[in-house]
Amino acid sequence: MITTTRQVKPFLKWAGGKGQLIGQIAMHLPSAFKIGRIKKYFEPFLGGGALFFWLSEQYDFESVYLYEINPSVNICYQVIQKNVGKLVKELSHLELEYLSVSEKGREKLYYDKREEFNAFLRRKASNSIIRRAALLIFLNKTCFNGLYRVNSQGEFNVPFGWYKNPTICNEGNLYGANELLQKAEVFGGDFAQCLEYADKDSFVYFDPPYRPISMTASFTSYSKDAFDDQEQRRLRKVYGDLDKKGAFVMLSNSDPKNVDPGDNFFDDLYRGYHIERLNATRLINCNAERRGTITEILVMNY
Ligand SMILES: C[S@@+](CC[C@H](N)C(=O)[O-])C[C@H]1O[C@@H](n2cnc3c(N)ncnc32)[C@H](O)[C@@H]1O
Repeated sequence: MITTTRQVKPFLKWAGGKGQLIGQIAMHLPSAFKIGRIKKYFEPFLGGGALFFWLSEQYDFESVYLYEINPSVNICYQVIQKNVGKLVKELSHLELEYLSVSEKGREKLYYDKREEFNAFLRRKASNSIIRRAALLIFLNKTCFNGLYRVNSQGEFNVPFGWYKNPTICNEGNLYGANELLQKAEVFGGDFAQCLEYADKDSFVYFDPPYRPISMTASFTSYSKDAFDDQEQRRLRKVYGDLDKKGAFVMLSNSDPKNVDPGDNFFDDLYRGYHIERLNATRLINCNAERRGTITEILVMNY
């Protein structure tokens, strides 16, 4: 018998993952949750889906709508939802292969698997979505800092991570994720699609790629297309449209004031809405000097 994990955690370590902020985010949920008014949950920038997994264990939504533009991540969710058994088998083989060789051997194995994954991205390899999902999780657990970064050709180029004993296949957690995903529809493509289904009984949580807090930080390169200020403005329009529909909407982002106290980008963009600043520790940052406590913004329409 398979024991599923309670308190399911994201199966991907994701830049900007909201795991550490869940407690603070939970304090800012709309009171409509308490009276059972929220029937539909939307997470249009899914990534690791920390809030989705947490909320799904607290509330019994009638339906859940998840969106992710990165096709590999999207495929991974679909596979966990529909084919978790086959995925676990594939991933535990990869784990065994990895753990049974020396450190030097692991490094070579990592680069071989990275090449195999990139062959999927170049569409030259056969179309096994289970293998592709397993490789994504494998690389995510063994690469440097769990980053997802692609080069100008769209190839995954994060170096080896040198972890001593990474858990590559967390079977209980994957089965737990499978259970929680049963009510969800996982869509590929753009966040704006959420407008189609959201209504006054919906809670929408936007966690877009961070607006870089410095010119050198490049956290927006999850996919080939960067999420620039133009995209932030397009998102603001969708936020306003959801507000008009009567949906409860929350959005998080990095606070540009961490670097430039005079930068009012989000305060101006979301003027008139309720803005809170939360304390966070940036866990993934290429620039070690910038680790430490910073603020993140939370924008609510309630
Ligand atoms: C900050 S991450 C979300 C992190 C997530 N909240 C977590 O806890 O792990 C943003 C995600 O949005 C995705 N994304 C970027 N542009 C998008 C778009 N236009 N539509 C939908 N998803 C997008 C990225 O691929 C990335 O996975």
